[in-house]
Amino acid sequence: MMRTHTCGQLRSNDIGQSVTLCGWVDTVRDHSGAIFLDLRDRYGVTQVVVQRESGEETLEMAKKLRGEDVVKIIGTVAPRLEGKTNLKLETGEIELRATSVEVLNRAATPPFFPDQGELPGEETRLKYRYLDLRRKSMQNTLILRSRIIKAMRDYFEERDFIDVETPILGRSTPEGARDYLVPSRVHRNHFFALPQSPQLYKQIMMVAGYDRYIQIARCFRDEDLRADRQPEFTQMDLEMSFVNNEDIIGMIDGLMVQLAKDILGIELKTPLPRITYDEAMRRFGHDAPDLRYGMEIVDLTSIAKETSFRVFRATADEGGFVRGIKVDSRAEEFSRKRIDELTEIVKNDFGAKGLAWFRAEPDGSLWSPISKNIEPPQLEAIKQAFDAKPGDLMFILADSWEITCKGLNGLRRRLAAELKLYDPKTMNFSWVVEFPMFERDSEENRWVAMHHPFTAPRVQDMHLLESDPGACRAQAYDLIINGYEAGGGTIRIHDSTIQQQVFSLLGITPDIAKDRFGFLLDALQYGAPPHGGIALGVDRVVMLFSGLDNIRDVIAFPKTQRAIDMMTEAPGTVETKQLRELHIQLSHPPEIKA
Ligand code: AMO
Ligand code: AMP
Repeated sequence: MMRTHTCGQLRSNDIGQSVTLCGWVDTVRDHSGAIFLDLRDRYGVTQVVVQRESGEETLEMAKKLRGEDVVKIIGTVAPRLEGKTNLKLETGEIELRATSVEVLNRAATPPFFPDQGELPGEETRLKYRYLDLRRKSMQNTLILRSRIIKAMRDYFEERDFIDVETPILGRSTPEGARDYLVPSRVHRNHFFALPQSPQLYKQIMMVAGYDRYIQIARCFRDEDLRADRQPEFTQMDLEMSFVNNEDIIGMIDGLMVQLAKDILGIELKTPLPRITYDEAMRRFGHDAPDLRYGMEIVDLTSIAKETSFRVFRATADEGGFVRGIKVDSRAEEFSRKRIDELTEIVKNDFGAKGLAWFRAEPDGSLWSPISKNIEPPQLEAIKQAFDAKPGDLMFILADSWEITCKGLNGLRRRLAAELKLYDPKTMNFSWVVEFPMFERDSEENRWVAMHHPFTAPRVQDMHLLESDPGACRAQAYDLIINGYEAGGGTIRIHDSTIQQQVFSLLGITPDIAKDRFGFLLDALQYGAPPHGGIALGVDRVVMLFSGLDNIRDVIAFPKTQRAIDMMTEAPGTVETKQLRELHIQLSHPPEIKA
């Protein structure tokens, strides 16, 4: 080995030893002829002193060192001078008195120094990711990520799960997000698709009798990106046979207990709390509600039917909803300007038509720019519905169910963060269950699977498949952490007749079903056990366990919001020859520069 110790290892009981350290020059200080270096690697920082006693040549060498040079230093471990110990550093009681300094690689002046000064913009960090990854917080996150994945693997291995790798080159199937396609060279006009998840392979593994499967699986989806979404991401994917949804939920409850204990040192109580999808939408307007704080939605639709205030009355009469949320006792923190800003946000981001608001005055009465339009009994009813106390502030939307859900969820999350209604360090785990089987795609005027087309209806809802698909509930469950969907899964259909029926409801004709999903329908006929599973979003779990809110910060080489890898500049152009081999002709070929 080139080094005897790491830069985070030496302590006072090593004093007197001769050692060799390798690392990056973090800082260099010249103190009246003696050079003080902080030498850094991923384990820590050690102070190195180069002085006259180190020898003329070594001292000259040290004087030329610059930040981020890679060096090898031989020396003797010595106690720091009195009063110079640094309690913030684990190696702070000692220093290395150098006898030799060797430059292994000279660094050009980098565009930024890790952990020094202000952090540059994200694009710069991603372009020079190797510099960014030298930062302590990035290292801690990647180390935590590695620990979380190991803890997950250990948990499942102890419970007889088998890790099986499934193909990356698969085939495109209808439904789901947009695919990433890979053209086939050998088979003209044919394409592989990168997997959006190993869903069908893991179901086939159940048919094959591997009753407990796991995989740390890379998934690819060409969707619009957000702070919690990447085009390629990692799932902790699992599937089990001879189980019901209680078994899967119980298995993941156990995993969360283990992770919370190992990674965060906290005790979780199980079973983790559950609410139904309907309740989540009613109380929080979202299927992944953040339960770290209250601010639940209050429904005023029946009161709205009794008032003559046009906006409320017309909405309620036309089958819409009038719903609101309340900020407790902090109305004085909301100027008219701030309320106007919130109004613009619900209009622009969520398509709301307006935002009504009420303030509870010191005498307990409600005041609002629209309060004169609302009759006293209805004003009183609104106050009662909110249980409003002096100083409370209420925001109300009159709109469709969807817009009141989206708008109030958006408002609730924003206000909770701005008003610091929760301790960012607390972790809240829960399940949302009983999702609808289908949702209506109003643009295409058809049903789409809420989770995926292989999801089984609840046994008691089976008859609704034909009579009222919209009311049919699925054996589906999502794991929610701090208002994020951290995982989702279902019990699957293991009967080819029901599978065909669901396909046809989704507008997948028997011919298309046979062409695209024939292997699944076949497999379901050759001895398919009842089975189900779930996939956790590893990136999201790591993000949440790290207390971060940007998924790119937990991935070594992420893509930007515009799906670009800033460092390699992927996606890039390719040679005409490559395209020819793939039988591809570009409709907008790049201009050839002279
Ligand atoms: P689903 O599509 O819900 O289910 O995905 C499971 C979990 O993966 C995470 N996730 C993502 N993370 C980052 N970027 C993305 N673009 C992204 N999309 C999803 C989420 C999500 O909860 N095959 C099914 C699982 C099953 O039924 O067993 C599936 O893929 O945390
Ligand atoms: P208008 O009659 O459109 O001028 O609106 C009167 C008040 O009601 C304004 O304060 C609007 O912001 C509010 N308002 C208008 N439409 C809605 C709506 N759909 N939901 C809640 N408040 C609204």
